[in-house]
Amino acid sequence: MKILGISCHYHDSAAALVVGGIPIAAVQEERLSRHKNDAGFPLAAIEWCLDRAGLEPDDLDAVVFYERPTLKFDRVLTSLLQAWPRSWRSYPKAMKNMLGEKLWVRGLIASQLGISTRKVRCIEHHQSHAAAAFLTAPTQEAAILTADGVGEWATLTVGRGAKNANGSTEIELLRELRFPHSLGLFYSAVTSYLGFAVNEGEYKVMGLAAYGSPRYLNEMRRLLQRTGDGAFRLDMDYFDFMDKAESGFSAPFVDLLGPPRRNWQPIDLASEEGRRFADIAASAQRLLEEVMLDIAIDLQRETGLADLCLGGGVALNGVANARILREAGFERLFVPSAPGDAGCALGAALYADCIHFGNPHRAVPDHPFWGPEPDEAALLRIAREDGLPVSGEGDEVLIERMADAIAAEQIIGWVEGALEFGPRALGHRSILAAPHKAAMRDRLNRDIKYREEFRPFAPVVAAEHADIFFDLPPGGARLGRFMSGVFPVRSQWAEHLAAVTHVDGTARVQVLDQAMAPRLHRLLEAYGRRSGIPILLNTSFNLAGEPIVNTVAEAYSTFRRCGIDLLVAGNVCVAKPRVARTAFLENVA
Ligand SMILES: [Fe+2]
Repeated sequence: MKILGISCHYHDSAAALVVGGIPIAAVQEERLSRHKNDAGFPLAAIEWCLDRAGLEPDDLDAVVFYERPTLKFDRVLTSLLQAWPRSWRSYPKAMKNMLGEKLWVRGLIASQLGISTRKVRCIEHHQSHAAAAFLTAPTQEAAILTADGVGEWATLTVGRGAKNANGSTEIELLRELRFPHSLGLFYSAVTSYLGFAVNEGEYKVMGLAAYGSPRYLNEMRRLLQRTGDGAFRLDMDYFDFMDKAESGFSAPFVDLLGPPRRNWQPIDLASEEGRRFADIAASAQRLLEEVMLDIAIDLQRETGLADLCLGGGVALNGVANARILREAGFERLFVPSAPGDAGCALGAALYADCIHFGNPHRAVPDHPFWGPEPDEAALLRIAREDGLPVSGEGDEVLIERMADAIAAEQIIGWVEGALEFGPRALGHRSILAAPHKAAMRDRLNRDIKYREEFRPFAPVVAAEHADIFFDLPPGGARLGRFMSGVFPVRSQWAEHLAAVTHVDGTARVQVLDQAMAPRLHRLLEAYGRRSGIPILLNTSFNLAGEPIVNTVAEAYSTFRRCGIDLLVAGNVCVAKPRVARTAFLENVA
């Protein structure tokens, strides 16, 4: 069957196409529209997915939306009425928002694609998350834990999945926690309080947490209280998801923790105020870890299973993930490359295929590269038109030259193969550099990423060498496959990996399996022969506020606007003039 999955209208729209049980294409709308976190109807992503497979909309057997809009409307309306009269100001906006295209999404999809509404179905949001985590993982049976801000009503679910020998598939969500009691909304309220954008700045809270100590843990426990059944509840005196959806925290929250940070206010970690913000981040992070860990421990005891699949936006918290792997009793932890809402497009399509239609499950290829491929020849053309020196050469020569360049502290823009699905660059749209010196981290922050100093950069290491440099627990390499875990850097290597080691001695390491990205693996090997350390700094190929680049033209534009020294797409390499002057490029065309 040919099934299209769609997620949109909240945050980070995407489309995914599954044919015969196997993903053919998946891409976030932002990578095509070039609007970061584009939440609009993903028409460009849908068109690209269909083009990729040579299909017309009529060829589709089903189109699956990643949540049930009527249930969501029920939650929004009920919550508004419960908060009445405080919520009166939000009412018109919320109604307009829901009664616009969101509630009538089946009709919208049918009319946009020119297909019958009978072909369009909706599945529950956390089933989409669960399917994205379980059906893409190389496991036959696993416990499933999903946690996000909110879907329709559910904010967290626990369950189990099985791919049976007869080809049938089961996903059973055993229990759910409901809005407004939400780990994702709790963390987002703290994100907003700390002056970062909700649904965007949660990484920053996690990065900042490493600088603080959790001395506000007791206060956090007043905001989020554990319940006797192993779950938790939010004390809604401290939150305001209805009246001030954009901030989420209330006046009592400020009374408890002090004035919030303004988004323009610098975080000076040498000041008392800066330390307070770091301590609040550390306290919220610690509490989130404790709750996730306790729920995971209970789930392991209940199911007795060795594998856990984790989905939902909370699964992007690599520090919490690593604690779950170490302490919850599971042997392996699977987090997909896109655990957030974009990944629900793929989850919804796979769920419909295996469960609604009962098609036999198929092993999903274990990589994140489901997006558009670059046109390498375009780089030759663009660079020549722009008058920059460009070379095209054999793979062996190019890899050795790039390793030389990185050893000479040059920064590489690296474009290769299909675009990653999910928020992280995993070696196909990456900026690569030497990982050794703090000065390189500062240069990248200053000249390329323009971001806060407290945010760490990530390393990529070949799987066979990972244990030498990083303290990985059993199962750590798997969690590091899509950069989903934060692990300690072994102390003897930390000073040689200063650009990628966070202040607390950890790193969000990508553990690269050779088969997943063979050319990047060869570059790591070549660099290791020069430096003795087969590790590179790997950060996403984008500037602050922009989506990760997709096409060669976007990569070239980014390269020209920042401090990247060399741009590589496939076997074509372009150098900035000052780099070319160092006679780096000999075969200049
Ligand atoms: Fe979600």
